[in-house]
Amino acid sequence: MTHRPDNSKAASQPEATQPQAEPVPSCPVCRERPVIAIDGPAGAGKSTLAAHLARRFGFLNLETGAMYRALALKAIENDFAFDEEAPLLDLADHTRITLEPQLEGNRVLLDGIDVSRRIREQDVTSAASQISIHHNLRAWMVLQQRALGAAGGVVMEGRDIGTAVFPDAEVKIFLDAAPEVRGNRRFRQTVPNENPTPRQNSGRQSPDIQTSEEQRAAEEAILRDLKERDYRDRNRAESPLQPAPDAVILDSTAMSLEEVLAQAEAIVNSHLSTA
Ligand code: DC
Repeated sequence: MTHRPDNSKAASQPEATQPQAEPVPSCPVCRERPVIAIDGPAGAGKSTLAAHLARRFGFLNLETGAMYRALALKAIENDFAFDEEAPLLDLADHTRITLEPQLEGNRVLLDGIDVSRRIREQDVTSAASQISIHHNLRAWMVLQQRALGAAGGVVMEGRDIGTAVFPDAEVKIFLDAAPEVRGNRRFRQTVPNENPTPRQNSGRQSPDIQTSEEQRAAEEAILRDLKERDYRDRNRAESPLQPAPDAVILDSTAMSLEEVLAQAEAIVNSHLSTA
């Protein structure tokens, strides 16, 4: 099943110009299937976990970071400043972002064009974090994300899913790991022979690395970018990255991927068995 929301409809509604996301938006009893919220910093493994849970439980996998990235790409292409909210909001109102969940992640269409790989590049990564500080822009995103997940049966991944998008999500997981571990994982995603079958959403740029010195420099640069983004995401005034009070925190610093997946599955199963 693909999910191709036509965001152009939302964009043409008057409230899209001055979006007002309500604090508690939805009605869990109106959903037949749960919302699984996965939040956490960059490189913690959210996308891998979200894709796994979606496959395991037959849910849609929706990657909200891709929406910020797609809009950031449009801002880059149109030479917009990242620190001026009004023009960005106007741009958003004339933008159609479509997430197409696949087995291994989301295919992302920006105004009908597949930008799934382009949006993983460094300039877009940095721009996405910068535009995501704006209040009304976030409200615009949140409205669309709530519409996408309203029927439930979704694993939604991002920074504010459990705190702002679906504060009433049935399952909330906050996936964290030490910055050095996340940086190293991101670095290894850029090394082609360690990543022979890239996932849909892992088109991260591979620097042309020759020597071990260059490797170390490349890894350090990734860690620097990641810490900078962490700082901005955690300290912005609007929906800063933080665990919801009722989220289960999984720190994967010293855990294998299999352990993370098994613990997260157990969390979801325990909800499903009591629902
Ligand atoms: O998950 P990601 O790395 O693709 O996200 C890119 C940026 O988008 C991230 O630095 C912060 C922002 N973002 C956000 O503010 N809220 C979300 N729900 C998802 C992403």
